[in-house]
Amino acid sequence: MAAALIDGAALARRLNDELKVKVEALAVSGVVPRLGVILVGDDPASHTYVRSKSRAARSVGIDSVEHRLDSSISEAELLALVDQLNHDPDTDGILIQLPLPRQIDVTKVLRAVHPAKDVDGFHPTNVGERVTGAGGIIPCTPMGAMFLIETVRSNIEGLDAVVIGMSNIVGKPMADLLLSAGCTVTVAHIKTVGLPAICKRADIVVVAVGKPRLVRAEWIKPGAIVIDVGINRIVTSDGEKRLVGDVAFEEAAVVAGAITPVPGGVGPMTIACLLLNTFQAALGRRGAELRAG
Ligand code: GUN
Repeated sequence: MAAALIDGAALARRLNDELKVKVEALAVSGVVPRLGVILVGDDPASHTYVRSKSRAARSVGIDSVEHRLDSSISEAELLALVDQLNHDPDTDGILIQLPLPRQIDVTKVLRAVHPAKDVDGFHPTNVGERVTGAGGIIPCTPMGAMFLIETVRSNIEGLDAVVIGMSNIVGKPMADLLLSAGCTVTVAHIKTVGLPAICKRADIVVVAVGKPRLVRAEWIKPGAIVIDVGINRIVTSDGEKRLVGDVAFEEAAVVAGAITPVPGGVGPMTIACLLLNTFQAALGRRGAELRAG
């Protein structure tokens, strides 16, 4: 492998260690940040993610309270829980694990979260503020991906970036963050015609489509920074269960300049950024109280 390995697990550990010190300092004033996590249904991947998020939160001293709801829950019941957490003075951040069951209007539920507690950065107020440069909470996965890119190259102004994927969670905010950092950004997706050639133009490629090993070595410009957001559970031809990304890692690593692995790349950084957002939300909400003494 010619590429440098971008070690997301190591960077996440460092950020978590630094955050733990800050959380401990805040605890002296009697404030323990609290994250309320809402998990609906029994999607195994969502359960795994939520378990990892809660464990990581507790490891840095952030309180994580899980609310597990049956997949048959009504939209009104879910909205009532969001309202309760919005008004709970001890809850600083609210995370609603996606996807949600079909009967629930995701847009409506995400819009119901108080923007100051929206640690995922999905509320239209936060999206609007971010896009217009007015602040706003930044979604965790794109924020983590930007941290990883920065470890390779601190100034990315003028570079060609291609984002493959157009979700509200990753693709769109990722493109916006790269644009704000001065890149020339192309947003492509699974239906884009001529995807390999478009990808090959990129100095920075971020892939978030959920297609195992979609991006091949010949799609990558030599020396490019490759950020793989995909987490796909596959069964190999010899029956082995594996996690793979959206990039064919072994062959892509021969061509790329730097590349994230799966697992151990973007995943741990998403969680580290969630904890950062939760801490910031706690400071933002309770800072005034603390200053008043
Ligand atoms: N499902 C997949 N990724 C995410 C995420 O970043 N936040 C939430 N809330 N749900 C997700």
